Amino acid sequence: MGQIVFIPRELDPNEPRVAASPETVKRLAGLGFDVIVEKGAGLGSRIPDQDFAAVGAAIGTAADAKKADVVLKVRRPTDAELKGYKPGAAVIAIMDPYGNDAAVAAMAKAGITAFSMEFMPRITRAQVMDVLSSQANLAGYQAVIDAASEYDRALPMMMTAAGTVPAAKTFIMGVGVAGLQAIATARRLGAVVTATDVRPAVKEQVQSLGAKFLAVEDEEFKAAETAGGYAKEMSKEYQAKQAALTAEHIAKQDIVITTALIPGRPAPKLVSAAMVASMKPGSVIVDLAVERGGNVEGAVPGRVVTTENGVKIVGHLNVPGRVAASASLLYAKNLYAFLETMVDKATKQLAIKRDDELVKATMLTDGGKVVHPNFAKAAEEPRTEPAAIPATTMVADAADAKPAAKKKASAKPKGTA
Ligand code: NAI
Repeated sequence: MGQIVFIPRELDPNEPRVAASPETVKRLAGLGFDVIVEKGAGLGSRIPDQDFAAVGAAIGTAADAKKADVVLKVRRPTDAELKGYKPGAAVIAIMDPYGNDAAVAAMAKAGITAFSMEFMPRITRAQVMDVLSSQANLAGYQAVIDAASEYDRALPMMMTAAGTVPAAKTFIMGVGVAGLQAIATARRLGAVVTATDVRPAVKEQVQSLGAKFLAVEDEEFKAAETAGGYAKEMSKEYQAKQAALTAEHIAKQDIVITTALIPGRPAPKLVSAAMVASMKPGSVIVDLAVERGGNVEGAVPGRVVTTENGVKIVGHLNVPGRVAASASLLYAKNLYAFLETMVDKATKQLAIKRDDELVKATMLTDGGKVVHPNFAKAAEEPRTEPAAIPATTMVADAADAKPAAKKKASAKPKGTA
């Protein structure tokens, strides 16, 4: 009998995703694992038990977690779930450890070897394991779809015998993976798109997607990108200049989508209540950063709020989960690719190489201890950004990108774009 991989049903009612697909189950079996999928685990992503069974998985119950050498999950295990795991089991998930020191300590206490997929280094070898990219890409797409469905006018310009419908003016704030996909999606729907970011590298990417770039391009802007490719927290002065520039622009927009994040810090506030109040009735704002503190004043996690002046602020939680069937397939593939690197092909046994850079970057707990440097001394150490990103491997998945962006997109496997 091989070692056992267990795929539980996610307990969080807001989590329709699942950490395996029929394709990855088949491949896990190919690696020598016996796979047990908890009954109903795939239902939120429309994968019925029989599809897992058809590729060789046993359909089990939550109690089967006890047998597992590897547990593949979407969300960090709850205390109740931890009690059901065998000490020494490898548990791989989106662990969301920042600000959750007690939960990290509980995983150490349970004796599991916990891996936090969101800490995967953004290096070429690990692109196929990059859950932040695979999920943010879908979130950027879905944000536009959500905006369009809340908006009570058409997005593309339509010139008809009965009159002309103007194109929706759409402004994307924060142009990382989600923002690039939001630009591409809004463009495909015919919106007139502008975008802003604090990292200079973004300007050309925005333009190559056919959108206009708007930003305060001062000395601070020129130095806003960290060596890892992420944004720094900007100074109060910069934020004031940025607010002055964007305020006037936002007042004229029909749709605003915000995606701005700073690793390990609360999301920057980009849209004030006054800016929201300046927008026309019927305008829609989607705040993709709502779970990290929000970019928009007045955004409420999990709700669509209509302001006094008739502006809708959309604060959906778990936006990748709103396209769960797609999100699960990509997520499952990300996990499989990582697990595959930890299997000894000859013995068909799990053989975690603790000196491997992917393992070092993602391993949170091991042998009863919190081992990740960012959390081992949580109390005294400042937070560092989660992963290094080579600036050269930047990517946009955009069918309608102009050549510059296309060239970059092709440098990256489609699965994670
Ligand atoms: P993120 O999710 O951390 O942040 C989203 C965006 O918000 C970023 O573009 C950031 O610059 C922007 N932002 C932060 N503060 C802002 C402010 N005050 N005003 C306006 N915008 C603000 O970023 P994500 O999506 O993780 O991407 C980070 C970088 O990594 C990007 O350059 C991305 O394209 C790159 N990347 C590289 C990969 C690779 O090489 N394998 C894979 C995925 C992303």
